[in-house]
Amino acid sequence: MKVLNIVGARPNFMKMAPIVAEMKRRGIEQILVHTGQHYDEAMSASFFRDLGMPQPDINLEIGSGSHAQQTARIMMAFEAVVLEHKPDWIVVVGDVNSTIACALVATKLGVKVAHVEAGLRSRDWTMPEEVNRVLTDRIADLLLTPSADGDANLLQEGIDSSRIVRVGNVMIDTLLRQHNRAKELRVYETLNLTANNYGVVTLHRPSNVDDPIVLGRIFGALSEISNSLPLIFPAHPRTQTRLQEFGLTVPAGLRLIDPMGYLEFMSLWSNARLVLTDSGGLQEETTALGIPCLTLRENTERPITVEEGTNTIVGTDPVRILTAAREILQQEQTSAARVPELWDGHAAERVVTALLEKSGVTGLAQASAF
Ligand code: UD1
Repeated sequence: MKVLNIVGARPNFMKMAPIVAEMKRRGIEQILVHTGQHYDEAMSASFFRDLGMPQPDINLEIGSGSHAQQTARIMMAFEAVVLEHKPDWIVVVGDVNSTIACALVATKLGVKVAHVEAGLRSRDWTMPEEVNRVLTDRIADLLLTPSADGDANLLQEGIDSSRIVRVGNVMIDTLLRQHNRAKELRVYETLNLTANNYGVVTLHRPSNVDDPIVLGRIFGALSEISNSLPLIFPAHPRTQTRLQEFGLTVPAGLRLIDPMGYLEFMSLWSNARLVLTDSGGLQEETTALGIPCLTLRENTERPITVEEGTNTIVGTDPVRILTAAREILQQEQTSAARVPELWDGHAAERVVTALLEKSGVTGLAQASAF
């Protein structure tokens, strides 16, 4: 069996790292393809180092562009790769433009597609990621879900249960594997902060950062919070560009810094009193380690982080953000939260087992340690 593993953007790397490692362990022939959607040292290369991932075998070096340009360029370049390497499967993760672009190419060439992190739905069709998720799930042959809500969403959309396998959360495999290394870094000390006495902010969703009015409102709330809790804000390049374009000043209590690598950032958020974010992944990561998280969006495709975890959806209304933040800061301890089932550090093993079983390769499937 020959597999092409696809990564493109920052949130893909920590999901793919344990899958690549597990395929290596079981002797599966694989080729790691990086579309180059993200290309900066801070957005890409540093993650490969931190995660101990092998360098990509192929880098399509697509870079930035409009959605249509980026998706189309990935498709054209990836088609040549599939034709040359003739894989049995491609594995795509998450919901970025690289995910749908490569899934579409493979399907049309008759190559089977496995989608890791299938079934998540925000039901917000204005989110580019929602379009990518729904379309990728529609064409993938194997839908590997992180939680039961994923299965339910797919079944409701009429997808046959034979295509769905619940494997858990591969990102948590990486988190648990790297947590001890991150702990040693104590990044907060280098930023003159004390553990459990600061907040971490991340913002990069177009709906939040591409509109100066929305961004200004969020900053208003963050400015208030920073009167009682220092806030640190590692800002995505997209956000930094928008701030310059809008001529918007970051409030004094909100310390803007450049994006951080995986380990440094984990060291920072895992010691925070509170995380305020519009990221998808961070909602899950904070749930896994029991750190309170306020999600600055009107919805989430990860409802389990609210139902079982530490996440609260607060939108972008400053009053709602402030009220929720004050409530958390008044609590002595984080209220009891549960880590969702199968977020146990073994999801990648189940991904590979599912892939082998679907291909009828039983010998290697049984080689699983789990
Ligand atoms: C993409 C994903 C989003 C994910 C996010 C994490 C899609 C539709 N969106 O959004 O789901 O949460 O990645 O970061 O795929 N840029 C750089 N250097 C880089 C990459 C990007 O400077 O290495 C800047 C460029 O100005 C670029 C902009 O960021 O135009 C946006 O990058 P893009 O890949 O289009 O989308 P993201 O906003 O990063």
